Amino acid sequence: MSHRSTVILGTGSYAPSRVLTNAELAHTIDTSDEWIHSRSGIRERRIAAPGEMTSDMAVAAAQRALADAKLTPADIDLLIVATITPDMPMPAAACIIQHKLGLATTTACFDLNAACSGFIYAFDTACAMLSSGRYQRALVIGVEKLSSIVDWQDRTTCVLFGDGAGAVVIGPSDQPGVGLLGTRLGTYGDSVDLLCIPGGGSNAPASVASVGARDHFIKMKGKEVFKIAVRAMEESARDILEQHGLGATQIALVIPHQANLRIIEAIAQYLEIPMERFFVNVDRYGNTSAASIPIALDEARRTGRIKAGDVTLLVAFGAGLTYGSALIRW
Ligand code: COA
Repeated sequence: MSHRSTVILGTGSYAPSRVLTNAELAHTIDTSDEWIHSRSGIRERRIAAPGEMTSDMAVAAAQRALADAKLTPADIDLLIVATITPDMPMPAAACIIQHKLGLATTTACFDLNAACSGFIYAFDTACAMLSSGRYQRALVIGVEKLSSIVDWQDRTTCVLFGDGAGAVVIGPSDQPGVGLLGTRLGTYGDSVDLLCIPGGGSNAPASVASVGARDHFIKMKGKEVFKIAVRAMEESARDILEQHGLGATQIALVIPHQANLRIIEAIAQYLEIPMERFFVNVDRYGNTSAASIPIALDEARRTGRIKAGDVTLLVAFGAGLTYGSALIRW
């Protein structure tokens, strides 16, 4: 156990202004507001403007988080960006964001890919790096422009995803027992095929054939993902609560990855935590992958749903299949 606690000093989020409703989607593909809402809880999602990059959304969220923390770019010495949609395959989005934000050239910058669990993985990594004492203040961003990798001809996936960014600034605290209490991360690497982008990697580099086969878009077996997601999130949440000797009643708020309202409701039922103590905004944003938890965290803080002393549980799952939980005391 480290002698230094790591606490959240500020949060910020950003969503593009363009709202794409279910009714609009029903004009271009064979679907309906009723189908999408009843299966997923989603009503609308945000879509980045033409020319608006992942890095731009990340910068907007990060500036808000820095302002909330009353810090400036010069105070940051570590930047971790959780994303599966960097501006380009190489270099990391973190490098572009570093420059656009005006962070010092002495800042360690890298991306982390754990898909929809990315924010929890990045947050854990940043907290560990700060606990080592080698870094002082980190910016952790979850950001996605999923509209660029969704197949807009595939009604089984395109209705579920959206764009956005969320950011947190973290730093050390001398107060014991606050900040990140612990995490429980894991992976089911045997289920890669259930949710992936088959083309564009070193196994199947971009080619005329791969583009024709639409292999550069998200492919998902939704039903199978659903089942594993519920089990993995429930188990990791249960494990971390047990590890820290906490009961369901001691969790003031759960901030789950916002993929599907039915998944969230199933977890609430299994964990025996009432839905009133789950933060839900999937209706307004759809699934924004690595951005979903930091956006929800920021909205929860700004709407007064988190108070000093509260324990918050973050829980996520995503392609990989990765999953993870984190406990934070404010
Ligand atoms: N509009 C209308 N009908 C649709 C549709 C859409 N957008 N998408 C699929 N359908 C149809 C299917 O073709 C199928 O028709 P069929 O029975 O004639 O074959 C029917 O609806 C049922 O499809 P199914 O896939 O069985 O629905 P479901 O109840 O499993 O719900 C998901 C689909 C995707 C909403 C659900 O499986 C899910 O949320 N899975 C988890 C996905 C997820 O969260 N992934 C992100 C991980 S981070």
